[in-house]
Amino acid sequence: MRTTILFGGTNKERLVSVASAQALHRALPEADLWFWSVADTVHEINSTLLLEHARPFEDEFKPAGRCIELNKALDKAKAEDRVLVLGLHGGRAENGELQAMCELRGIPFTGSGSASSNLAFDKAAAKRFAAIAGVATPEDIELDNLDAAFAEYGRLIAKPARDGSSYGLIFVNAKQDLVAVRNAAKTEEYLIEPYIAGTEATCGVLEQSDGTLMSLPPIEIVPGEGTFDYTAKYLLKSTQEICPGRFSPEISALLKDQALRAHKALSCTGYSRTDFIISAKGPVYLETNTLPGLTAASLYPKALKVQGIEFADFLRDQIALAER
Ligand code: DAL
Ligand code: MG
Repeated sequence: MRTTILFGGTNKERLVSVASAQALHRALPEADLWFWSVADTVHEINSTLLLEHARPFEDEFKPAGRCIELNKALDKAKAEDRVLVLGLHGGRAENGELQAMCELRGIPFTGSGSASSNLAFDKAAAKRFAAIAGVATPEDIELDNLDAAFAEYGRLIAKPARDGSSYGLIFVNAKQDLVAVRNAAKTEEYLIEPYIAGTEATCGVLEQSDGTLMSLPPIEIVPGEGTFDYTAKYLLKSTQEICPGRFSPEISALLKDQALRAHKALSCTGYSRTDFIISAKGPVYLETNTLPGLTAASLYPKALKVQGIEFADFLRDQIALAER
């Protein structure tokens, strides 16, 4: 099969995707590069064009020249016996839509299938599944109950139910911030939770080519300036990501166990990364990413390295799983 890295996409996380593709390309130089544009077309890209795109987190990647519609590109992928390595994040790339389009055509692709992707991408639904599997999750706050919840907890956090990379996060620290939550929830489904103070942590889960599942060393996230938002994640150098995190053996074991439970509860395949806050009572679930960042600066590749797994070997295993 011909390996093809598919990157880009139509949602906000497409910028992150270009950086993931650069890392994927370095690890799999033999793979073809297909860029999915915001216009829903696919461009075949050469290596230089991708590697010379200097500020992927800030600047749009805009190749000129020949392209075909996404649907036609997927037909072509099938006809050419390609396996797709998904260097994509968020939106229609991570919510199961692309996965369903591939499944309908019988195109193998890395990562979770359409049903699992769709479930995990809905933070509210994912949380319920994780909770059933024994994962500690934050309380859900209804929009109708905002004032009472604010009075009870003093601080809330609201986030789009279906977005990643911390886009659209609203911190409710004062009563007037509730207006922003009500406004945001008019146009998009929002998940509202009590603000949980604590250290941010994340834990990757890896399915090896023989099907065995393992958790990777948990990572501790120390944002330099305030919270771990898009800017802190990708643009500032001040955020520290410590792997393995400086957790007690008990917390570390809990993070690994809860990440594994979430991965299984959401029927993920290949790999996933689950984010947590370590509250005074232990790890609390935030979300599971079925297409976590794979950029050179990303958390999942960092954890692979600490586990002693080369990025290229991880990818070869993921491709083998996809082709199975
Ligand atoms: N959604 C971003 C890419 C991540 O979780 O790494
Ligand atoms: Mg995410």
